[in-house]
Amino acid sequence: ERRRAEEQKALILIRFSDPLEIFRKITGDDLIKQSIAFCMLKSDAQGLESCIIRDLEAAGFEVMSIIKRSNGLTEDIARRLYEEHKEKEFFPGLIVYAATGIVTLLILKGQEQAFRQLRKIMGDTLGKEEGTLRYKYGSHWETYKCEVNGGIKEIRGIENKIHGSNSFENVLREISIVYTKEELNLLSENTTFQYLTPIEEIERIIKDSSLSPYLYKLIAI
Ligand code: PPS
Repeated sequence: ERRRAEEQKALILIRFSDPLEIFRKITGDDLIKQSIAFCMLKSDAQGLESCIIRDLEAAGFEVMSIIKRSNGLTEDIARRLYEEHKEKEFFPGLIVYAATGIVTLLILKGQEQAFRQLRKIMGDTLGKEEGTLRYKYGSHWETYKCEVNGGIKEIRGIENKIHGSNSFENVLREISIVYTKEELNLLSENTTFQYLTPIEEIERIIKDSSLSPYLYKLIAI
């Protein structure tokens, strides 16, 4: 009976697991020209993805790949993604925001130094620049209950719908963090990426899950 329930749960997960759609692979030329950008539509952008993607395309970007993470980012991935801000007061809130709710990961193709182009049309952090995506789709302040030094602290943070890497180095670093090794193999024509997703993490997920390892492996692959 229990096994049947587990199998059913696994089937539901398989049915609703989000496929990685790849329309164009990352090439060596993209890396030389720095013509790829990494963009994450955060949890508050869910439901607006098609509008935002239309705007990105109208601004000259081509979507190279898209995947929705229906379970959000893991806390560990969120921490590594935003590592450079770890000393900032708002960091614990930023992690709660990034690790709670669905996110959509996009690799975009643009002009040389595409990350600059993306940051420009995203606009400022608080979404105050008219004509930008964060202005158009809005941003708001949220209060998060975060665990800090063993206690619970309320931390305020801005929810601004879209993330874009702030340098080409970070485009590559962030891609290496948010995609699994298997996904990176599919996304890229070469082996430029350092695979930073440790196998131990995948094994931990399998161990922590209530599914039978065999079924979970099927999903993971
Ligand atoms: S950077 O280095 O230019 O990317 O820095 P910046 O865009 O200013 O901020 C880095 C990320 O932290 C988020 N941020 C904040 N979150 C909560 N509260 C405050 N006050 C705050 N200020 C900045 C900001 O949205 C950035 O995350 P992403 O996902 O890149 O938008």
